[in-house]
Amino acid sequence: MNLIFLGAPGSGKGTQAEIIERELKLCKLSTGDMLRAAVKAGTEVGKRAEAVMQAGGLVSDDIVIGIIADKITQPECKNGFILDGFPRTIGQAEALDEMLEKNSMKINKVIELAVDEKILVERISGRFSCAKCGAGYHDKFKKPKRDGHCDVCDGTEFARRKDDNAETVTERLKAYNNQTAPLKPYYEKKGKLVQVDAMQEIDKVTEVLEKLIKN
Ligand code: AP5
Repeated sequence: MNLIFLGAPGSGKGTQAEIIERELKLCKLSTGDMLRAAVKAGTEVGKRAEAVMQAGGLVSDDIVIGIIADKITQPECKNGFILDGFPRTIGQAEALDEMLEKNSMKINKVIELAVDEKILVERISGRFSCAKCGAGYHDKFKKPKRDGHCDVCDGTEFARRKDDNAETVTERLKAYNNQTAPLKPYYEKKGKLVQVDAMQEIDKVTEVLEKLIKN
């Protein structure tokens, strides 16, 4: 089962991909995570991407296509993958179609996590993650079960993303509406697009997604 999670920044793509990866043994491929790792490691890709990410824009298609290309066929993804944050432009979607065709693979469903834009700043500004394993949390909506300890690895250090501020979120939202939203009709025409109400609580959204994926 190969899936794409589509949605505005803060709609819950990463949160749900992390849960579904664990529950259904799929592999999560997040271009945002890959780019942040490249920035942290100071690689050439990281150097080219850093300023654009800070400004809330989209990193160029050639960079992103380059980092995802060999991932979809890696052995860890043999049960299928969840693309979180890719594709984000029509050019990336077309490049993905080519990669899949070359490997006799296909996307089964493109799931749009639909939210009202009004709630995004609150979701994004409360987000933090475990510095050791990357598990995601929220100050109000998803606190660790034991205060100060990661539920997954028991780590005690947490981090916040540099681009999680109101100003950058506005730019990220503009990029989403202008460059990524056109993917909805692109996948609708292919009969792949399904919309899920992502305004519900995290567990409820997971329930809907699992039903959808298992069917
Ligand atoms: P990326 O990391 O992909 O960021 P994004 O798309 O802006 O998405 P987010 O990670 O902000 O949101 P999310 O939907 O995953 O929400 P989350 O689950 O964390 O990309 C970052 C940057 O990298 C981009 O701006 C761009 O520069 C670059 N980039 C990446 N991919 C690229 C590409 N393909 N092409 C070009 N550039 C690219 O949830 C947010 C918070 O809300 C969490 O704290 C969570 O706990 C909470 N939450 C989640 N669901 C709920 C719920 N249902 N109710 C209440 N709280 C909830």
